Amino acid sequence: MNIGIEIAYLVASVLFIIGIKYLGKTKDARKGNVISAVGMVIAIAATLFTLEVLTLLEIAIAILVGTAIGLYYAQKVAMTKIPEMVALFNGFGGLASFAVALSDYYFKRDTNLASLDAINLTSILVSVLIGAVTFTGSMVAYLKLDGKISGQPITFKGQHLLNLLLLIAFVAASVLVFLDPSQVNYIVILIVISLLLGILTVIPIGGADMPVVESLLNSLSGIAAAFTGFIIGNSVLIIAGSLVGASGLILTFIMCKAMNRTLPDVLFKSFGGSEKQSLTRTKVGSDAEEVAMMVDGAQKIIIVPGYGMAVSQCQHQVKEFADLLQEKFDTEVSYAIHPVAGRMPGHMNVLLAEANVPYEQLIEMDEINSEFPDCDVALVIGANDTTNPAARSGEGPLAGMPIIDADMARTVVIVKRSLSVGYAGVDNDLFYMDKTMMLFGDGKKMITQLNNSIKEI
Ligand code: TAP
Repeated sequence: MNIGIEIAYLVASVLFIIGIKYLGKTKDARKGNVISAVGMVIAIAATLFTLEVLTLLEIAIAILVGTAIGLYYAQKVAMTKIPEMVALFNGFGGLASFAVALSDYYFKRDTNLASLDAINLTSILVSVLIGAVTFTGSMVAYLKLDGKISGQPITFKGQHLLNLLLLIAFVAASVLVFLDPSQVNYIVILIVISLLLGILTVIPIGGADMPVVESLLNSLSGIAAAFTGFIIGNSVLIIAGSLVGASGLILTFIMCKAMNRTLPDVLFKSFGGSEKQSLTRTKVGSDAEEVAMMVDGAQKIIIVPGYGMAVSQCQHQVKEFADLLQEKFDTEVSYAIHPVAGRMPGHMNVLLAEANVPYEQLIEMDEINSEFPDCDVALVIGANDTTNPAARSGEGPLAGMPIIDADMARTVVIVKRSLSVGYAGVDNDLFYMDKTMMLFGDGKKMITQLNNSIKEI
């Protein structure tokens, strides 16, 4: 291959690695995205010099259509719908690898059967399997997340056995392909099995675990791309695919750890949604004025955001609340960030960054938990499971999950619409503590009322 193209691929790969490094910190994430995007532009431009099948015009049309669709959806998508969008992206990534692997198979079968050697065939089969599983698995994840099909685990007797039999059938059909690569029928069988496996693996997993599954599927889409890179002899695809594969897997394990669940638990044991506790206790709510009077004397306040902040999109009002406290009462304000607060990794960081909250005020759970006993008020906004002391009890779906120690603060204020349970379906003792004031209502409405009351003090 042309040395210029190889150098361009090397530069692109280095930019991907630097981009990922920057993505590790909220402050630099935007920069990381831009650096990776520049790497991708270089990789695409270099690939255009190796045109084999399509003309430049055809590729330009494809790029234009793809860019228009991408731009439209990126602008239009609501913050709370990002997980659905990521699921679609993963799925199409898997589909692309699957399609490239298949086209390579058909091309070589028709032009040069001898080139389908063991290494080539292995790469094609792995790419077909992983690409197809990623595609249908991601589509099921998307439908579950979007509520188009039930988020409840869909299970039936003999499900795991059926998956095992399908895997065995895949191996058997693969052996037949190796024995006679010209037989398209075996390839068709492999495709059907792979597509089925994607659906059957994801349907028994509950909606609450979908973000973890999505991260795993993201990793798989990278692995499929890396194998496709081997098939077509493209080094940048191998490197980019491996980076996605590795980082997706690391993220999957970080999420599992933050929920205190193992990956096999996520994949094979249903969780959340179906086992919601019925609520028997009641609690009288407070009002914005009462809470405003109380925060007036507070020296240190920690804000604990959760999924409800994302739903009500009240991050700007929350920032205004923090600014008001700092300006009027010289209060020390920081934010406690739980690694799985919300519905996707970094959900709270992204929302608060959008509202221009200074990065240094966003403090990770492990770092900030020791500060709660010295904190006058913990203001919990739409967070539930991530603050639920039941996680310390060792029983129930939340057992062992690390939580934000909001209950250790002198006073706790909770903004949510009702006493209802969070994602894990577990009642939260924090709501009923004597020192807890419940501010019932939509996040945006309540924080706006609170800000207005503070302005009047
Ligand atoms: P959750 O436990 O999901 O609770 C969110 C709370 O927000 C609900 O109890 C709800 O109560 C409230 N809420 C909803 N809409 C609201 C609105 N408009 N205004 C105010 N409040 C509103 O939230 P969390 O503490 O962030 O925990 C996240 C959960 O998701 C964890 O169980 C976690 O394991 C799971 N999860 C997260 C991830 C990632 S990567 N983040 C991945 C997989 C699973 P009301 O209905 O009473 O308002």
